[in-house]
Amino acid sequence: MSAILPPAERLWWKHPLDRVEGTWIILSLTWCLIMFAMMVGWHIYGKQNLATETYKTTPDKFIAKAQAFVDKYTVRTETADKTPVVAPPPGTDIYMVARLWSFWPILELEKDKTYRLHLTAMDYNHGFSLQPANINIQIVPGYEHVINVTPNRAGTYSVVCNEFCGIGHHTMVGRIYVK
Ligand code: CUA
Repeated sequence: MSAILPPAERLWWKHPLDRVEGTWIILSLTWCLIMFAMMVGWHIYGKQNLATETYKTTPDKFIAKAQAFVDKYTVRTETADKTPVVAPPPGTDIYMVARLWSFWPILELEKDKTYRLHLTAMDYNHGFSLQPANINIQIVPGYEHVINVTPNRAGTYSVVCNEFCGIGHHTMVGRIYVK
């Protein structure tokens, strides 16, 4: 039968179901249900799609807290624009601000110690992609995201913005040191 011509018998849905057809329908339906369950399961067991604690905030409120944190724990500055390097004591609340087109400040953390990392965006949507660890978070303006962080490997980590945020997007890179 050609697909160009209308079917000879118009009421095709009244034809009995072929065994092969039925098998495919059952197979695909089962697979659909497995995939659906995986979405929920992977969220819980896959350690992906971080469900971050989130609060409403404003740029002014957040920057006041971040500035106080930077003033208190800065140990030196780095890069041409003198970005502060902040070494907070373990167990404390730590802050990172995303804005066009930088992450501020640089954090210096201790290995195997836990911190509460607070993130916000000052202007537009930015991304927080921690490299080479595979952690991805959207940073949304107006919201304070809180993540419990326990770095388990020493090294220099890059924070890359992975939400397109304009002409300088590709230059938006931050840094975290773990000692
Ligand atoms: Cu910020 Cu892309």
